[in-house]
Amino acid sequence: MDVSQQIEKALHFAVNEITVAPSPASLVSALNYAMFPGGARVRPKLVMAVAQACGEASSALVRESAVAIEMLHCASLIQDDLACFDDASCRRGKPCLHTVFDDRLAILASDGLIVAAFERISSVQHVDAQAQLKLIGMLAHKVGAVHGITAGQAWECEEKIDIAAYHRAKTGALFAASTQAGALAVGVDEAPWELTGHLLGCAYQIADDIQDVLGDSTELGKPINVDATHGRPNLVHELGAENAIAHLRDQIDEVIASVPHCDNANFFIETIRHEAQRFLPKEIALSAA
Ligand code: IPE
Ligand code: IPE
Ligand code: MG
Ligand code: MG
Repeated sequence: MDVSQQIEKALHFAVNEITVAPSPASLVSALNYAMFPGGARVRPKLVMAVAQACGEASSALVRESAVAIEMLHCASLIQDDLACFDDASCRRGKPCLHTVFDDRLAILASDGLIVAAFERISSVQHVDAQAQLKLIGMLAHKVGAVHGITAGQAWECEEKIDIAAYHRAKTGALFAASTQAGALAVGVDEAPWELTGHLLGCAYQIADDIQDVLGDSTELGKPINVDATHGRPNLVHELGAENAIAHLRDQIDEVIASVPHCDNANFFIETIRHEAQRFLPKEIALSAA
């Protein structure tokens, strides 16, 4: 089973556990709708890649950390699409959850996923309890109101946006959670992995900005030009396409330079290069000068 298959299997198992009787039928459908079919699953793959780079990716704590972070991510996407945020119509190639169900079920499915994420990690048995607690605390921090995705979305409610803080919290936080979780779950010091995760999140945000302007809506499965519509900062608008792409290349180099010493660093670096290319429109080659 390859990594993608392992992730899908673990996600199905986890979602099955929260979609059983007596859970109300509409909530059950909404939870499944939010999780399947997935997007690129980039965050759980990142958890697994860091665990692999540090030694061993097959433990239950690694698997459940990957599941938890994808659940938190999917919860954040439900909220992000709501009329009061991005007012989006499609996500992952299908209508947004709140348009198929309604706002009430969107909020509740999101709540259900956030809570389940923490439950996944806390319910892993026979593991180092301290690592488990640290994982829970770290994840809470990364979805929280100070540095987490809650703060990230809340920046959009401000009149003046601090762009660096906005991107760091909105996108960087969950990427940093992913790299840190991969390390923590295999008993490795997670501190140096936080920077790598944040830098990766910034790179991903730049790629997302490029896609928002130059991407293809059908291929992406979501609308483009959303930033212009909502008057949000977008690097392509600020620097122009060529400079934004050059900036992304520099950012990937910075990510690679930041990778902490570990047994399988080369494997991790290759994975990053490969994934980074996948997140750009086809005609843009990341490795070209
Ligand atoms: C979308 O995340 C939100 C951003 C931070 C840009 P993804 O691009 O990872 O979405 P999915 O999970 O693949 O649909
Ligand atoms: C959503 O950000 C990311 C969250 C952290 C909720 P965007 O609004 O920029 O992402 P897309 O384009 O809808 O996926
Ligand atoms: Mg948004
Ligand atoms: Mg959005």
